[in-house]
Amino acid sequence: MLMIRGVGSARKAVLVVLCVLTPFVFIFLLVRSGNDPGSCQIFTSRETVVSGKDGKTFTYDRTSPFIFIGGFPRSGTTLVRAMLDAHNDIRCGEETRVVPRILQLAAQWNRSAKESNRLHEAGLTDQIIGDAVASFIMEVVVKHGEPASRLCNKDPFTLKYGVYLLKLFPQAKFIFMIRDGRAVVHSLITRKVTVTGFDLTDYRQCLTKWSNSMKTMLRECEDLGPDRCLKVKYEDLVLHPRSQMETILNYLGLPWTEDVMHHERYINKPGGVSLSKVERSSDQVVKPVNVEALSKWVGVIPADVIQDMDTVAPMLREFGYDPNSNPPNYGAPDPEVATNTVEVQKNSDKWVKTVEDVLHKSKGGNTKN
Ligand code: A3P
Repeated sequence: MLMIRGVGSARKAVLVVLCVLTPFVFIFLLVRSGNDPGSCQIFTSRETVVSGKDGKTFTYDRTSPFIFIGGFPRSGTTLVRAMLDAHNDIRCGEETRVVPRILQLAAQWNRSAKESNRLHEAGLTDQIIGDAVASFIMEVVVKHGEPASRLCNKDPFTLKYGVYLLKLFPQAKFIFMIRDGRAVVHSLITRKVTVTGFDLTDYRQCLTKWSNSMKTMLRECEDLGPDRCLKVKYEDLVLHPRSQMETILNYLGLPWTEDVMHHERYINKPGGVSLSKVERSSDQVVKPVNVEALSKWVGVIPADVIQDMDTVAPMLREFGYDPNSNPPNYGAPDPEVATNTVEVQKNSDKWVKTVEDVLHKSKGGNTKN
């Protein structure tokens, strides 16, 4: 300003205009260079714009606060996503199945030094691959259901790649569902839910593999840190849904609504909980939160496996489950859950019919409508 004071007013004006414009010109040139093939220094987050049925427009980009629900399958991941889907501001929807697959592929490219070198030699930097993977995930998450102000994805194994996902979506938040591994494996085996590498005739093998897989996910969750990854136990969610949902909504920065306590009322309703006919939890999640599934595993796991439980599945203890108690004391349900459970048990015929009706009507495509 001291220098400017000495010159005439016209030159002063030109200088001021130049000062104001220079940063914008600089940013414009940088962004342009970011669009050139081969240049990858600039983070250009493309927007995806979609309209809801009421004509309201929603815009998403990589800085949108996406929610990722993860954990081992059979840990209540569908239940928590259904409870969130009942919230007006959130849409999760069905499992996409392709999101964890693209993440696994990207991790493979990165893990193999040979492959990684080949990609770099071909000009495929980590950033180009990251941009492509992020675009793929965003397209899938945004477009497989109706828009909502907070979009959420529930594909359990995405949490194995939580740290990488956070690089792609820096405002993302993660929910890590944890359940007693004995109940998880009992559920896999009795319901014949296939997971790659799991031998469904062998409790010991499945429990060991569950433990290893949970170790990986716990490490990711801890690396993400408590602001980005919230651990939720299935047992706590079904015994105390109100306090658990309060914690979850608070963590997500969303207001409380009673709707999350009655997800069953919004199954396949406009703006509600869209279910797939072919997902293995759809017939259970149709019901209100209940404790029927808590201890079904007790008395079913072979005695020799029960005896060695602490060494077979060391992550049980890590997550606070006593490997030596059969059954463990998970606690008493809140009165509203106890009422739900009695209702579900007393009217089992009605629920069989409701499940049939709901799943017959459910469609395999769009969700929030
Ligand atoms: P079981 O197979 O032991 O019955 P996921 O969706 O992660 O695969 O988890 C499935 C488990 O969540 C199932 O356990 C199922 O019973 C339980 N679940 C689903 N809906 C529920 C509800 N409304 N109340 C309590 N548990 C529920």
